[in-house]
Order: sequence, then C-alpha cells, then structure tokens
Amino acid sequence: MTPLEVIARKRDGEEHSAQELRFLLSGYLDGSIPDYQMAAWLMAVCTRGMTRAETLELTRAMVDSGEVLDLSELPGIKVDKHSTGGVGDKVTLIAGPLAAACGVVVPKLSGRALAHTGGTLDKLESVPGLTVDLDPDRFRRQVAELGLAVAAQSPRMVPADKALYGLRDVTATVPSVPLIASSVMSKKIAAGADAIVLDVKFGRGAFMPDPDMAVFLAREMVEIGEGAGRRTVALVTAMDNPLGRAVGNALEVREALAALSGEGDEELVEVSVRVAAEMCRLAGVERDPRTAIADGSARRKFEAMLKAQGGRLDEGLPEAQAQVPLPATASGHVAAIDALEVGRAALALGAGRMRKEDRIDPGAGIVIEAPVGGSVQAGDPLATVHARNPELVVDVAPRLAAAWRLVDEPVRRPPHVYARVDAQRVTMASE
Ligand code: URA
Repeated sequence: MTPLEVIARKRDGEEHSAQELRFLLSGYLDGSIPDYQMAAWLMAVCTRGMTRAETLELTRAMVDSGEVLDLSELPGIKVDKHSTGGVGDKVTLIAGPLAAACGVVVPKLSGRALAHTGGTLDKLESVPGLTVDLDPDRFRRQVAELGLAVAAQSPRMVPADKALYGLRDVTATVPSVPLIASSVMSKKIAAGADAIVLDVKFGRGAFMPDPDMAVFLAREMVEIGEGAGRRTVALVTAMDNPLGRAVGNALEVREALAALSGEGDEELVEVSVRVAAEMCRLAGVERDPRTAIADGSARRKFEAMLKAQGGRLDEGLPEAQAQVPLPATASGHVAAIDALEVGRAALALGAGRMRKEDRIDPGAGIVIEAPVGGSVQAGDPLATVHARNPELVVDVAPRLAAAWRLVDEPVRRPPHVYARVDAQRVTMASE
C-alpha cells in the first residue's frame, strides 16, 4: 500500500478499509507522509465523503493514536461538551464552569481556531501564563480536584487530531461531516467522560450552512458516541449571526467573565444555560445552572480553573493598540449580521491563522455595538474593531460594515435552538 494509492482511491470515490485509514494516520504522525499528501487526501474526503463505517473507523483510528483516559475512579458521571465551531462562540467558557459549579465533573479536550471560527484553546491562552498543554496525569488531577479542566490534544492524547486539525485549518478542508465528526468525537472519547453534550451549529458562520445537514452531522456524532458507550445528546443551534457581542480571543474571555457575573448578552446566556442544563441532566444533577450565576459560584469556578492552569488573570487580559469604531452609513433596525464575514474579518485582524506557523494576536477582534434586534442612526457605531494597528482596521472595515443588514421595520431575534438529538429521536424546537 502506498499513500498515492490510498489518496487515489478516495479521489475516485471508493471506500477505505480500516487498514488504509490507520496507514494514513500513522504515516502522517511518523512523518513518512508529508503535509501535501495528507492535504490532498483531506480534500478528497471533503469532496467524496465517507460512509458511516469509514467515519467510525477513522474515529477509532484517531482515538487509538493516543491514550484513552480512565476517569472511572472519580465519583459521579463525568460530562464533556463540544461545539462544532462558530463565530463568537464562547459557550464552553460559560457552560463548563456553570455545570461544574452545579456539581458536574467536566473533563474537556478542546480545539484551536479553525478557518473563520474561534477556538477555545486560543481564547484561554490569551490569559497571561495559562497553559492548555496538560499531560494526562495533570489533566486527571485537575479534574479530580476542581471538577473542571480544558486541555489540548497532545502527543499522548489524540495526536492524530492535533496534526490533522492544524492542517485542515489552513487547507480549506474543515467543512466535511466525516472529518468534523471524527475530530470532535475522537477527542470526546479520549478525554474519558461518561456522557457528552454537543452543540452542532448551522448557518452562515458554521461549517454546515444548512440546518438539515447539521441535524445529519448531529445524528452521526450521537451514534458514534453511543456506540462508544457514552450517552450523547446534541443541540442543533443557529450560527447565522455571531453569538454574543465579542469575537476574538481575549475579548471573548472578557465577555465570558461578564456573563458569569450576570452581565451577559441574553442569547449567549440562554444557549450557555441550555447546554449546561443538558450537562446537568446527563450527570443526574438537579440544579438550575442560572443559580450558579446568581450566587457567583460559576465565575469562581472559572477563575479557579484559569489559576489551576497557570493563568494570571490579575495581570489583565491583552488589549489591542487600536480600538476603532465602525460607523453605520445608514439608519435602521439590525436584521442580521453575517457571521461568516465577521469571522473572516477577525481572522484578517489576527484572531486566527492563515498559515500553520502564524501566531495569534490575542487582543485582536471585534465587539458588536449594534446587535440583531437593535437599531442605529447613521454614524452610530456598528462595532468597535480591535487591532494591532489602524491600517488593519482600514483593510477590514468595508467588508465588515457590509455584514450588517439594516431594515426599516423593528426586528425580533430568531430562535436559537433548532433541534435536540439523542439516541432515540430528533426533537424539533418548533414541535
Ligand atoms: N471542532 C473540532 O474539534 N473539530 C472540527 O473538525 C470542527 C470543530
């Protein structure tokens, strides 16, 4: 078997055997298969797809590339959470502490920024001193002591996802059901939780523009999770507009801290509470997560996690040199904000990576001043753009301003949760 033969088989729409998939992953990890061949294969998967059996085998091969944590000695039902990625999606930073403050044990492996979407690891790393590189022993210890840890894939935990993830990010090979499902579920299975809550996004800013495709992806992932013995529930949620007000790493940590203090954007808090409530339900914890905002325990839990991972929040979060308002050129009610364009603008400002070796600018991003449902007069700020220098702001301003769709009539924000998927059924929110 050679890499060229295996790539050609997927290019021609054939089904891989488990051996072929393991051959590719181990060759990529040991360096005998270079980036350009793996990128060609990823693109072939994007265009040709995979059968359910292949997706399952790919997930298993990715899990087997590292260790599977055994957390069975920790009391209680451990619950992990994962989003398929969005713009302004800092739900993990809120729902994780909320669930943990309610008594759920949360071991979580997260990802970095992918294409135009943000990554929890990059957001956390904007806190001075914080590390997401926890080896399995440190990860297990923190979960035992604090009930909450968020870490990266590593040479010991799903190294195949770490390698593929970085390559997919810069080769336009993210939007693929089998690649997303195997990437997400391999991390969830390896991190050792008993149950998993998935937030599967659809819309302009998501990797699945169409809600039915997102339901399909959700069902694939629920099936993989349940097949691996993990109770799995997915919420299918809208990502047409950015979630909350902030897009960009340090800006999103700041917004998460505010939300945990009871000062959050309504939609952001609603979806975070909904995710945390699903986590509580799976863990058999009967507590309304909102009470953990009200009594301050969720914010304390988040701060304790940042500290346990070396974070020094007291030193302050990085701030951009240039903070420039983006004025509205007309008056009206905000009907929509194109999340894809906002995500692309954040990427261009340095909040994500164009190339593997790029360094993130932790202070860069966008703060939405005129959210969906709000209204503006010409000249009012639509957003504040945070950048290393004013030239970067000038570059992104025209496309970013065009992301706002203004209408004459008042607007109500559209419903956020579209469906819930578990092992038994798909329940539409409209039912
Ligand atoms: N999150 C992941 O972990 N992987 C993907 O492919 C997409 C979102």
